Amino acid sequence: MAEDIFFDSDLTKAEKYEMVFNQSKALVSDETNEIANLANISSLLKQAFNFYWVGFYRVLENQLILGPFQGTLACTRIAFDKGVCGACYSQKETIIVPDVEKFPGHIACSAFSKSEIVVPVLKNEEVHLVLDVDSDVLNDFDETDKVWLEKICRLLES
Ligand code: SME
Repeated sequence: MAEDIFFDSDLTKAEKYEMVFNQSKALVSDETNEIANLANISSLLKQAFNFYWVGFYRVLENQLILGPFQGTLACTRIAFDKGVCGACYSQKETIIVPDVEKFPGHIACSAFSKSEIVVPVLKNEEVHLVLDVDSDVLNDFDETDKVWLEKICRLLES
């Protein structure tokens, strides 16, 4: 069952991620419905870090289609060769973009988005989903975000 979670503002980024990871692990072990889990993980990340936009794109119909998210309206379909999400899909690895204006082909769903990280979720060695997190601050993502977001995404691979 879901429980409320409170993020003390004194916690470090890594401490907040550890809480999000533990809560995500509990949620995923209790629930087999993937959409429900993606929705709750998006909510946890939004609550913990107040990211501008956080959500998932799912591999469906030979493209990336918008899944559960928290934030403003977003593009619904992304071709595998477009944007940061498409690059993450093609390269099967996490991509950190410190300044979206400098990323060739970046898809601007919102003018407020300034930096971005996209993490793949694999199933049978193929990309099954991508987690996309956008910030309204330049250069907002680092190795700590990469390590923890990858750990959270691994929970969705089993
Ligand atoms: N910026 C992404 C598109 C998705 S939105 O940011 C929610 C991209 O370039 O793939």
